[in-house]
Amino acid sequence: MSTLLWQKDGVVVDAAIQAFLAGDDVILDREFIRYDITASRAHASGLHKIGVLDADEWAAIDRELQQLDQDVVSGAFVLDAHYEDMHSAIEARLIDRLAETGKKIHTGRSRNDQVLVATRLWLKAQLLACQQHCTAIAQVALARAAQDRDVAIPGYTHLQRAMVSSGLMWWSAWAEAFIDNAERLRATAAWLDSNPLGTAAGYGVNMALDRAHVTEALGFARMQVSPIYAQLSRGKFEIAAIEAVCSALLDVRRLAWDLSLFTTAEFGFVKLPAHYTTGSSLMPNKRNPDVIELLRAAYARCAASRTEIEQLMSLPSGYHRDLQFSKPAIVNAFKQGGMALALVSPLLDALVWVPEKLNASLDASMHATDLALELAQSGMPFRDAYQAAANPERWETRSAESSLQARVSPGGHAMPMLEILAARLQTLI
Ligand code: ARG
Repeated sequence: MSTLLWQKDGVVVDAAIQAFLAGDDVILDREFIRYDITASRAHASGLHKIGVLDADEWAAIDRELQQLDQDVVSGAFVLDAHYEDMHSAIEARLIDRLAETGKKIHTGRSRNDQVLVATRLWLKAQLLACQQHCTAIAQVALARAAQDRDVAIPGYTHLQRAMVSSGLMWWSAWAEAFIDNAERLRATAAWLDSNPLGTAAGYGVNMALDRAHVTEALGFARMQVSPIYAQLSRGKFEIAAIEAVCSALLDVRRLAWDLSLFTTAEFGFVKLPAHYTTGSSLMPNKRNPDVIELLRAAYARCAASRTEIEQLMSLPSGYHRDLQFSKPAIVNAFKQGGMALALVSPLLDALVWVPEKLNASLDASMHATDLALELAQSGMPFRDAYQAAANPERWETRSAESSLQARVSPGGHAMPMLEILAARLQTLI
C-alpha cells in the first residue's frame, strides 16, 4: 500500500485493518474513476477561477488529468490495491507528475464530496442508458403492435381462457409499459441532477469556491446548497435510482413469464430465435429458454441491491464509512438491470408467433363476454344478457377479427391507441 493521504503522527496502519477498511472498494472504484477525474477537472478549473491555481498550474493539472483518463481507458493505468481508493490514486498521480502543483488539487474538497459527485455523475449516465433501453423496447413493441395487429392471441385471467386478445393488444401493453418506465427513469435522473461537489466533508469550507461554475462545467441542473443534506442524499438518491430500474424490471419479469409459458410445448405460441436458448448438458432433446429466465430473475437482484442500501441507511446525519457499501449495490443493480434491459428489444424484434397454435387455443366460449355486451347494447339489461350469454348453446364460433375489431382501443379503433403511444414515445427520443 502506498502512503495514505491522511497518514500522520507516525501511526503505523495495521495491514489487516487496512484491508478491512478498503475491502474491494478500490477495485469497485474502477467503475467510477473516470467520473472522479471529470469532477477533478471541474474542481481544478473552479480553483483557477478563484485564484488558488494560476493559469499554468491549472493547465498542467488539466493536462495530467486528461492523460490519466486516457491511461485508464487504454489500460496503461490500472487502479488496484496499491492505492486506498480512486481519490487517493488521482492525487498521488498529480503529485507524482507535478510535485508541488499536484499537492494543490485537494484544496477545498474532501473525499466525502468527491465520492458523492463521482457516483452521482455515474448514476445519471446509468439512468440515461436504461432510459434509452426502455425507449428502444417501446419502439419495437409499438412497431410490432402495428405489424401483428391481427394475430389472434388467447387472453387469460387466472391463467384460464378468458377473451380473444390480439397482437395489437399484447404488444401495446409492453409499449405503454416501457414508455412509462423510460419516463420514470428520466424523471428520476432529473430529480437527482444536483451537484454535491463543493460541500466538502459535509460542513462546507471557509473559502469562496465558485460552485456555480463547477456545477455548470459538470452539466448538473442545479447544486445541492446544504452541505449536510448533500451527505444525507447519499443512499437516498441511490435508492431512488434503483427503484426506477426496478420498475422497468418488474415489467421485464412479467414479459419474461409470458414468454416462458408461451414457449412451452403445451402453449407453443411463440418461437424464440435459437441464440436466445441453450442446450442441456445431459438431455440431448432440450432447448431451454435460459435467457428469458435470467431476464425474469434480474428484478430480484436489483431489488436486493435496493434493500442492501436501505439496510445501511440507519445512520445519523453526516458522513459515515458505512455509506461506502452503497457502491457495490448500485454497481450490481445497474449492471444487472442494464444488461437485462439491453437484451429485451432485440429479443422482441425476433419473436415469431405460431398462428396454428394460437388459433387452436381459441374457443367459442371466449366470445361470450362480447355476446353479453352486444345483447346489452341492443336493450337487454346487462345481468339478463350475462345470463343469456352464459348458455353454451348461444356460443358461436366467430372470427377473431370480428371480435377484436370492437375492443382494440377506446372508441373501437386500433389506430388512436397506437397514435397516442407514438406521440408519447416521440417525447423520449
Ligand atoms: N471510499 C469512501 C466512500 O465510499 C470514500 C470516502 C472516504 N471518506 C472518509 N472520510 N473516509 O465513502
